[in-house]
Amino acid sequence: MEKKTIRDVDVQGKRVLVRVDFNVPQDKKDGHITDDRRIRESLPTLQYLLDHGASLVLMSHLGRPKNKEEKYSLKPVAARLQELLGRPVQMADDVIGDAVLRQAQALKPGEVLLLENVRFYPEEEKNDPAFARELSRLGDLYVNDAFGSAHRAHASTRGVADYLPAVAGFLMEEELNYLDGALNNPKHPYIAILGGAKIGDKIGVIKNLLPKVDKILIGGGMANTFAKAAGYPVGDSLAEDDKLDVARELMDAGKGKLVFPVDWTIADRFAADAESRMVDVQSVPDGWRILDVGPESIKLFETYLKDAKTVVWNGPMGVFEFPKFATGTLAIAKYLAQLPDAITVIGGGDSASAVEMAGVADKMSHVSTGGGASLEFMEGRPLPGIQALQDK
Ligand code: 3PG
Repeated sequence: MEKKTIRDVDVQGKRVLVRVDFNVPQDKKDGHITDDRRIRESLPTLQYLLDHGASLVLMSHLGRPKNKEEKYSLKPVAARLQELLGRPVQMADDVIGDAVLRQAQALKPGEVLLLENVRFYPEEEKNDPAFARELSRLGDLYVNDAFGSAHRAHASTRGVADYLPAVAGFLMEEELNYLDGALNNPKHPYIAILGGAKIGDKIGVIKNLLPKVDKILIGGGMANTFAKAAGYPVGDSLAEDDKLDVARELMDAGKGKLVFPVDWTIADRFAADAESRMVDVQSVPDGWRILDVGPESIKLFETYLKDAKTVVWNGPMGVFEFPKFATGTLAIAKYLAQLPDAITVIGGGDSASAVEMAGVADKMSHVSTGGGASLEFMEGRPLPGIQALQDK
């Protein structure tokens, strides 16, 4: 990696301001953290800094608060982090201000302070320089380990780097090594699997990947739009009518590389207990909707995946939240898990949930913690949170 990391700087006796992405999913009713992966993935960086004599001031956002709503407080995260780190984590009442500054200045090596949700201040998302400067006063050195937020040019992800020496943490480094390797230095055969609801979200990724990959396997709701563009009936399926032209252009540009489903699992309505049927790709009856790829499509996809040396996967093959329509997505996850000799890189968000659900996350080479960030990276766009870090 061309950016400096925490290995390249002396942190002994320093107060290190670390941007983490603790934007974790929570139970709507009791605020219980339902997936703490992002917290766990930050531990190598935090532990390294603590072992090397630093004290830590941690900052993150949580959700998209409009005001300082209690349900967006990072307090539950502090409690979980404390358990995982096995040492006390102090929770600040605020993000900036004299009291927080005093709390940060009082930290001794080995001590940890978590700031409140940085988005409690609208200045955060505006990347307000005065706010970034206030944040920077809380540390001597800035470490960005929040890959999941690296596509945001906010005060805590981008602005602070104007006021402090700025380096990457280990999670950021690992994400970049895998994603950049898959994008710019892949072993062939190189197969991308793209799914998810909308073509609109993936146009940039398809365009950027086409010259690099051997095949792109397409599933999920976005495959419906391609099917419709190809003239097949899609019944009541989700399809983006305003993207049919783009779909045709992509099919043209990707001739020989884009691989589409040959059959579907369809449902009589959008519900977990809907009646379901398998049909070939041309035979979706009126009133029915495509909710998953069918068994023949999975077989077809597996023929391409069999010899793959690099696989990048972003987006589920169907509505995997409904067990009846999770078959395609789980089959792909399990197939990737047993590939003997492939680098498997899983984009964050739904694809990460899918490999967790299939119980095979630890069999993948890398599961990204960034949903939007990994997507933008795969589009070939520079991520502001990374650009701002010091070069080696
Ligand atoms: C994410 O979950 O993708 C990141 O934490 C960024 O969150 P945001 O989309 O609200 O900026």
